[in-house]
Amino acid sequence: MAYKNIIVEIRGKVGLVTLNRPQALNALNEALVAELNEALSDFESTPEIGCTVIAGAEKAFAAGADVKEMAQKGYIESYLGKFLDGWTRIAETRKPVIAAVSGFCLGGGLELAMMCDIIIASETARFALPEITLGIMPGAGGTQRLPRFIGKAKAMDMILTGRMMDATEAERCGLVARVVAPERLLEESLAAAAKIASYSQPIVMMAKETVNRAQETALSEGTRFERRLFLSMFATDDQKEGMKAFIEKRKPSFRGR
Ligand code: HXC
Repeated sequence: MAYKNIIVEIRGKVGLVTLNRPQALNALNEALVAELNEALSDFESTPEIGCTVIAGAEKAFAAGADVKEMAQKGYIESYLGKFLDGWTRIAETRKPVIAAVSGFCLGGGLELAMMCDIIIASETARFALPEITLGIMPGAGGTQRLPRFIGKAKAMDMILTGRMMDATEAERCGLVARVVAPERLLEESLAAAAKIASYSQPIVMMAKETVNRAQETALSEGTRFERRLFLSMFATDDQKEGMKAFIEKRKPSFRGR
């Protein structure tokens, strides 16, 4: 597929998607979301790819959903139509996804980042859910995911005031995993993705699935789920290889079996 709103590259075992609507600070319109879903779906079905990085531009990861596209929408048309269809597809990916965030990460942009598995931020990153200033509220999971990341107090503060949070505060309250110098953002994100992709793909996917269980289930159910998948790993060649390599003091060679 020829993409107009994103740039898609493959770097070794890592798929890299760069959001590319600089004229609109990477505002997410329907065409961009469809292209992103298409690229992710391709990566999901490409066995050689073990992890994806989604990056934006230096000034903006994404300044939200495209307000100019949304402004004309009516209720019935939106309800009956496909508005928001596909927006949460990224949360269903089975291989890990890293968001590399520089500059503005607002509204739907932050909702997109929160659907990724790891957010790595540049020191320049600024996060907000400013929908309230437009007479709406977050609609792609923001009201549900932000409190799970940073707790109710800060989530209410962000969602009801629309204020921006800088990278230091975002790391302190658990929204982002790492903060790095702007010039190191892509390198560090790709390196983390390459490391993930170097491990056994099925084991990585099971680990992701199991951590996500923690968000959605009671502790006793989650630990039971973990136990089942953990035991199943002893039926894989990669478990044998990983432990044998440790004992033989060499690097393991995982085959994804
Ligand atoms: C459409 C946008 C946009 C957006 C910026 N632009 N954000 N277009 N949708 N979300 C456009 C501007 O209109 C402008 O186009 C160009 O990008 C550059 O932006 P400026 O405003 O001139 O830049 P700057 O002065 O540096 O201000 C940056 C900014 C501001 C603070 C990020 O652009 C801003 O507040 N943007 C809107 C942020 C927002 O409210 N996001 C939430 C959207 S609602 P022109 O043509 O004038 O050059 C949302 C709901 C999701 O995300 C719900 C689920 C889908």
